[in-house]
Amino acid sequence: MSLLFRTVCPVKLLFIGDIVGEPGRRAVKQLVPQLRQQHGVDAVIANGENSAGGSGITPKTAEEIFSAGVDIITSGDHLWDQKEVIGLLENEKRFLRPLNYPPGTPGRGSVIVELSGKPPFAVLNLQGRTFMPVLENPFLLGRSEVERLRQITKIILVDLHAEATSEKISLARMLDGLVSAVVGTHTHVQTADEQIFPCGTAYLTDAGFTGPHESVLGREIEAVIKRFLTSQPQRFEVAKGRILLQGLVVEIDESTGAAKNVMRISERLADS
Ligand SMILES: [Fe+2]
Ligand SMILES: [Fe+2]
Repeated sequence: MSLLFRTVCPVKLLFIGDIVGEPGRRAVKQLVPQLRQQHGVDAVIANGENSAGGSGITPKTAEEIFSAGVDIITSGDHLWDQKEVIGLLENEKRFLRPLNYPPGTPGRGSVIVELSGKPPFAVLNLQGRTFMPVLENPFLLGRSEVERLRQITKIILVDLHAEATSEKISLARMLDGLVSAVVGTHTHVQTADEQIFPCGTAYLTDAGFTGPHESVLGREIEAVIKRFLTSQPQRFEVAKGRILLQGLVVEIDESTGAAKNVMRISERLADS
């Protein structure tokens, strides 16, 4: 008698920090295909809240990002900056907004992704409340949504879009052992604290951003300095130089959902 065993391979996810403007989209287009191959990535998740001119997202910029090989786009506090976002919220299942908006808000905060030859996995988008617009409690809503998602899959990645490190670490510690990874976004500064918590959740306080780093968080330096000097509003154009794609790759045990390995990514676009 012969028995057929399906080979159990880890699931590898690439997460990409906030894509800023055209330079960020260009980095995604040029680098995602090679990163997919280099790391044997099964799926790509990217935060797209700054992908349209540095503020918000439109169906057109989302389509560019999907065409480059991104499977799911998450967002955050810049969600509403472009009015065309409503088309994405109403029609695009691959686009997430933070789950903890009030009941009745269009769009969705989580999604189950089916991959051929791999088990399904979930992506959950949450937004913090410290030094940010006040939304519903991400701890309470996040925990109950994770319980619901775990009825379907144990492979869960959380994009936690938040400012305060304490809020990010606390929420991730609360979810240790219940999700595969919690990755922070929003600050646009990549932190160096990637780790796997004792019960198997991979964690990084902030993934950084994908776009021009010869800048202040992706914007032209001079205008931002002027704003601080004069306290008067300035037009912040997206900067141009030294384009990096930043994020992380997490390797997940498909039977337990626990992270096996986590690695930060900061890849420079050639000639930028
Ligand atoms: Fe943000
Ligand atoms: Fe951002």
